[in-house]
Amino acid sequence: MGKDKLRRFEELSHFDRVFQPRMDEITGKEYFLKGRWKQEVFHNENPLILELGCGKGEYTIGMAKRFPDKNFIGIDIKGARMWKGARSSHEEKILNASFLRTRIELISSFFSRDEVDEIWITFPDPQPTERRKKKRLTCPGFLTRYQGFLVDGGIVHLKTDSELLFDYTLSLAKHNEIEIVDMSSDLYKRSELVDPVLEIKTYYEQKFLDAGSNINYLKFRLKKSIPINEIPEKKG
Ligand SMILES: C[S@@+](CC[C@H](N)C(=O)[O-])C[C@H]1O[C@@H](n2cnc3c(N)ncnc32)[C@H](O)[C@@H]1O
Repeated sequence: MGKDKLRRFEELSHFDRVFQPRMDEITGKEYFLKGRWKQEVFHNENPLILELGCGKGEYTIGMAKRFPDKNFIGIDIKGARMWKGARSSHEEKILNASFLRTRIELISSFFSRDEVDEIWITFPDPQPTERRKKKRLTCPGFLTRYQGFLVDGGIVHLKTDSELLFDYTLSLAKHNEIEIVDMSSDLYKRSELVDPVLEIKTYYEQKFLDAGSNINYLKFRLKKSIPINEIPEKKG
């Protein structure tokens, strides 16, 4: 591992509001903050919003600054990336922004029923092959996990450069009769952005824009009562 990465890992462990659970803290038991993030970390009862695959945490930090009356947690497995957002939160004393370093597959160990109000999924790996479809952060396995801790009818936002992931998620939503609240296959070509928070640009987003890609956006409402199933494969 490079020196810079090692230094970032070391610093990360000293920042406020950064959590890097060991496996033994969640194996066979619930993480100590499950159901207690608002009280123990943010010291308020404000709404809780997650950014999944947050990378450097541009959305987590950007939204935390815009909405001081809401709480934000950026989640990613890569500590060296998360370091950037975590450092901003620490140095600028952004008390409503926190970071959790874990695999999103384990997310049910961290949040309890109705604890989360909204989810942002920002430029996730599209996992284009059929074999890795179950790793897409919007596949039925993940959406079902989110239903477990998102308030009933909670909003999920997806921003992606990947047409494949956008089309897949849209088809999945239609197949399962999930309510689409807003969508665009070329977000910045709209005459006006419906929500100014969409102007926040992540590290990967800027790279895709510089390369001339269009940005896809999907906003949908996740009801708890709907079982979510994969789209059946077309035969022949
Ligand atoms: C393409 S990057 C996007 C990062 C950031 N959202 C952005 O737009 O700049 C995808 C991120 O998702 C994280 N990631 C992918 N799969 C993950 C998983 N299963 N659990 C946790 N993080 C994951 C990666 O570590 C990476 O930082």
